Amino acid sequence: MVNADIIAIDGPAASGKSTVAELLARRLGYLYLDTGVMYRAVTLAMLQKQIPVNDEAAVTNLAREIKIDVRPPSVEDQRMCDVLLDGVDVTWEIRKREVEQNVSQVSAYRGVRDAMTQQQREIGRRGKVIMVGRDIGTVVFPEAGLKIFLDASVEERAKRRAKELQERGKTIGYQEVLEDMKARDRIDSTREIAPLKPAKDAVVISSDGLTVDQVLQKILNLLNK
Ligand code: DC
Repeated sequence: MVNADIIAIDGPAASGKSTVAELLARRLGYLYLDTGVMYRAVTLAMLQKQIPVNDEAAVTNLAREIKIDVRPPSVEDQRMCDVLLDGVDVTWEIRKREVEQNVSQVSAYRGVRDAMTQQQREIGRRGKVIMVGRDIGTVVFPEAGLKIFLDASVEERAKRRAKELQERGKTIGYQEVLEDMKARDRIDSTREIAPLKPAKDAVVISSDGLTVDQVLQKILNLLNK
């Protein structure tokens, strides 16, 4: 058995990491934390306060001031967790397109990353947590006992995301989702600070053509080694 108090699952948008991580957390009795929701909450707060996305100082101050809470789901509407921004439930609002179109720029700011990383480390230090994001294995918890980098082709990921959005009643088409995703991938993986990339000791799994259960089984096999 691998001694993994912290399991890091990184990868690009819609690679399936949240779904797999949430199932794994339930199976192991671990806490599940999707760090992407924290960057999304900062972005939503910025939009609500009409702070221009290019104003790095103002966005950074905002990231330090706001209170983001991530809790187990309190409503049965397919959410994986509750996300509270200054006490208000923003779980679905952080999924809107305007947030998606700005979140990569917001999460490239050093001050924003420092504020979020600090909170993530505090949560992780309590132990038994599965943390999902882009830089968990490389920056937030380089000492994590198991690091997975879950990947899939951009077309496959866009197909999954478009289906998810359509199921939630959104009218956005595949092509738009694909373009948004390519833009986000480019910023996330080329940014100077904590870019999206596998840690040297991460196990890279491609979820192309695999079911959620098959990916889950691969990770369980790694844990049982
Ligand atoms: O996983 P997601 O799509 O909800 O993430 C939203 C954005 O947040 C993503 O475009 C990059 C950023 N992010 C990050 O920079 N670092 C993380 N650990 C998690 C997400």
